[in-house]
Amino acid sequence: MYYPEELVEEVRMKNDIVDVVSGYVKLQKKGSSYFGLCPFHNEKSPSFSVSGAKQMYYCFGCGAGGNVFTFVMNYENYTFAEAIKLLADRAGVALPEVEYSAEMKQRENHRARLLEANKEAAKYFYYQLRSKQGELGYRYLSGRQLTEETMKKFGLGFANKTSDDLTKYMKQKGFEDKLLQEVGLAGFDERSGMHDKFWNRVMFPIQDINHRVIGFGGRVMGDGTPKYLNSPETPIFDKSRNLYGLNFARTARAGNIILCEGYMDVISLHQAGFTQAVASLGTAFTSGQASLLKRYTDKVLLAYDSDGAGVNAALRAIGILKETGLTGKIINMQPYKDPDEFIKNLGKEAYQERIDNAENSFFFEIRMLERGYDLHDPESKTAFHKEIARKLCSFEIEVERENYLEAVADKYNIGFENLRKLVHTYAAQTGLVKPVERPKSSMAKKAAPEESGKRVQRMLLTWLTDEPALYTRIQAYIEPSDFTDELYRKVAERLFADIAAGNYNPAGIISMFEEEEEQREAAALFNTKLEAIETKQERERAFHDILYAVKKNSYEYYSGKLGSDMQALNQVIAGKKALEELGKTHISLD
Ligand code: UTP
Ligand code: MN
Repeated sequence: MYYPEELVEEVRMKNDIVDVVSGYVKLQKKGSSYFGLCPFHNEKSPSFSVSGAKQMYYCFGCGAGGNVFTFVMNYENYTFAEAIKLLADRAGVALPEVEYSAEMKQRENHRARLLEANKEAAKYFYYQLRSKQGELGYRYLSGRQLTEETMKKFGLGFANKTSDDLTKYMKQKGFEDKLLQEVGLAGFDERSGMHDKFWNRVMFPIQDINHRVIGFGGRVMGDGTPKYLNSPETPIFDKSRNLYGLNFARTARAGNIILCEGYMDVISLHQAGFTQAVASLGTAFTSGQASLLKRYTDKVLLAYDSDGAGVNAALRAIGILKETGLTGKIINMQPYKDPDEFIKNLGKEAYQERIDNAENSFFFEIRMLERGYDLHDPESKTAFHKEIARKLCSFEIEVERENYLEAVADKYNIGFENLRKLVHTYAAQTGLVKPVERPKSSMAKKAAPEESGKRVQRMLLTWLTDEPALYTRIQAYIEPSDFTDELYRKVAERLFADIAAGNYNPAGIISMFEEEEEQREAAALFNTKLEAIETKQERERAFHDILYAVKKNSYEYYSGKLGSDMQALNQVIAGKKALEELGKTHISLD
């Protein structure tokens, strides 16, 4: 959805950043800014700053930064469209309705209707759990040591033994038969007519990340089959793109997400304080779910059952995580089967230890592999080593491969060079990895001159946002094209134009960028740390040096492009002149 810039600005200006951030982070005034503990990384002393004047935040610890949109996007893991909606609602600004085609409207209405049906059914089950007929279910859940608070948080319910009470209730609420069948709450057959799909089960509503009920899992009371019955896939319930518990886990900020097998595991973990736990929905973990997780974390801890099926599922999941670019580690739950049992028996501190000691997925794979070989038999042992070599080939980055090679050789007592040879033979045979290229010279690369060039550019932009009036004094020497990074240039262009128009507004500049990463980088431009300088004379000197350095960097940059770029020549000539003048000029900061 595209909104006009004025509207985006209106929403931004009506949401004071200090107000908004205060709703999430405890802030304290210090000088002209507010400081608090950064919500985007773990820290003990506050390096997260919010400036009312700039309408921006910036963390000196982790570099997170941006305007009020960036903050909401980052904190809530929202897209820009979701963030602007939240902030528009907060400030009472009406956003224009999206124009839908008739077909789209119809589809949307149908989806809304399915969601309503689930919501109503969830309410019914919830109510049943606390009624006389639900006593069995309530006792069952309490017996599994769930507190009332936990049952409430997850909206647990009960489908009682009567085989058509939900159907009747839903009909009375205006939901037609066809819809109830489609959403998987009711079935129809000749003999019994319309009847409930779920009965005699405790009910686990499955929610999407926005807490909407998209389906159910129901666990049978006693030993009936199936143990868990799940809603079918529907237009609102895509099992390969949702995860149980993610609606809570996505804001847990534990630095990882724990992926388990069952609903009960997720609930036990949350109750024990591990609110980063999620589970797939009665089906195997999919790459769609991995991509979903990637929005929130880059580290996934697997807490699958320790039985054979669990290990196989974990091995499959590791592959999927890898393909998605996520690191996987495995939590050892021995001697227990799953997180639920583990926590019940050993408690949360012990579980935290297991989290801290989670095993690297590569070593887990090798350890599982090892079980298929007899290491006392030379032939079998060789086959095992070959298999390790084959696995090592999956690391495309040489350093990484070598590090793993070293670690695994050490762990399994294999000669390092022998194993390495094996890897290279294998790689060459299969073309899996490029043969290792030795660097021609051992000279280490110098710190990129690029970076120091960019640093002074950032300092200059920060200085100008702190003291915008200075711009008129240096206008003659500096132009946006002197900023050699594209993003910097865009920001400078807009900042200079804004200041010239008497419309200084750095937070608005951040909204020019849609991507969070770019917003963050842009915010860094306005928040580079400038050294505290005491005397006016020294400050003037520092400012002059920075300006000179930016200009010189630009001059060198364009000189380097002479010959390939016609424009560069003009730039170089003008740059040389400006540098000479600047060398003789005093710029006052008064
Ligand atoms: P488990 O059988 O390991 O569940 O199945 P659990 O959590 O240990 O069950 P409890 O503790 O006996 O209640 C793990 C997950 O596999 C799916 C469900 O999503 C369940 O949470 N499952 C299992 C089904 O979909 N159907 C089944 O019949 C069994
Ligand atoms: Mn269990």
